[in-house]
Order: sequence, then C-alpha cells, then structure tokens
Amino acid sequence: MQAKKASESESHLTWIVAPQDLNRHGTLFGGQLLALADRVAAMTALRHSRQDCVTVSIDKVDFLAPVHHGYILDMTARVHFTARTSMEIYVSAIAEEPRSGARELVCEAFFSFVAVDENNRPIPVPGVELETETDRRLNQEAQARYNARKAGKSHARTARMNKS
Ligand SMILES: CC(C)(COP(=O)(O)OP(=O)(O)OC[C@H]1O[C@@H](n2cnc3c(N)ncnc32)[C@H](O)[C@@H]1OP(=O)(O)O)[C@@H](O)C(=O)NCCC(=O)NCCS
Repeated sequence: MQAKKASESESHLTWIVAPQDLNRHGTLFGGQLLALADRVAAMTALRHSRQDCVTVSIDKVDFLAPVHHGYILDMTARVHFTARTSMEIYVSAIAEEPRSGARELVCEAFFSFVAVDENNRPIPVPGVELETETDRRLNQEAQARYNARKAGKSHARTARMNKS
C-alpha cells in the first residue's frame, strides 16, 4: 500500500462556543471539547485510510486554558504515525477571542484510530509520509508510546499465563 502525505488527510473543524457547551463555571465543558477533537481526528483517520475507523485510545489530553462563551475554536487534526492497522493523530485546538482576534492554544491531544472491516476486524492502513519537523518529532514520540504499549501488552499476557 502506498504511503500518503500527512497533509493529504489534515482536517479542520471550526466551532463557536454557545451556552449549551458551557460548564457551571461558564467556560467550555472539557467533554464537549474532547467530542469535537474526536470528530476532527476521525475525519483525518477516514481520509488517510479511506476505510471505516474507530477510536481505540486517547493517549494524552492537555487542557491548557479555559475557553469562554462566544469564542471561536479552530481545531486541526493531522496524522503523524501509522503501524499495521492503527494511526496516531495529533489534535490541537486554538481559541480566538472574537473582538480582538487574540488566539491561544487551549488543548492538545493524541488519538489512536484503527481501520476496521465490516466485521470490526482491524485492516491495514497506508503508511504516512512525514513532511515537517513537527511530524517527525511527533512520529518518534508515537513510536516510543507504541513500543511501550506493545511491551506492556506482552508483559500483561505473560503475567496472566503464569497465573493460570
Ligand atoms: C479497535 C478494535 C477493533 C481493536 O481490536 P483488538 O482485538 O484490540 O485488535 P488488535 O489487538 O489486533 O489491535 C489492532 C490495532 O489496534 C492497536 N491498539 C489496540 N489497543 C490500543 C490502544 N489501547 N491504544 C492504541 N492502539 C491500540 C494495536 O496496536 C493494533 O495496531 P497495529 O495493527 O497498527 O499494530 C477493538 O479494540 C474495538 O472494537 N474497540 C472499540 C472501538 C470503539 O468502539 N471505539 C469508540 C467508538 S468509535
């Protein structure tokens, strides 16, 4: 399968923060931000793989600053790592104060998606062609997370086998 450029599947989602998005402090509810992040990451996963995809994990989420009523959110999702059937996607959210236009990074997260067939079985995805320094840095970090998770899985399996 031919590798695809990271820029080919980069996706964007813009949202204005409305009253139904707010928590009791009057700022954007974290769960709503995560739902939007999952949605834009899913667009990237679909565009990269051109297959059905499911979210398998959210590795690291940082909420960096509160987002207020009426702010405009600009979200970007870009793939920086693929293995056999999985992809890791970096999502960033920038909040814009509508009057001044001041912009601030308010959230970052790493989503893993798996491409699946009609029986929900994992299927291969194309590799990713890294294009920027950030792509390459995130790729190295994702590779380390992937290796650690695989090693953890096999340790857990060995521990279970030793118990039985
Ligand atoms: C995604 C799913 C089909 C994977 O099934 P599975 O039996 O774990 O499959 P495997 O162990 O063969 O793993 C498949 C891929 O998922 C990756 N994966 C599994 N668990 C993971 C995790 N916690 N984090 C990141 N990747 C993970 C594996 O590394 C593998 O990737 P690779 O082929 O690139 O190496 C299954 O876990 C599932 O259906 N989960 C529910 C998904 C869902 O409903 N999401 C929310 C709504 S979209």
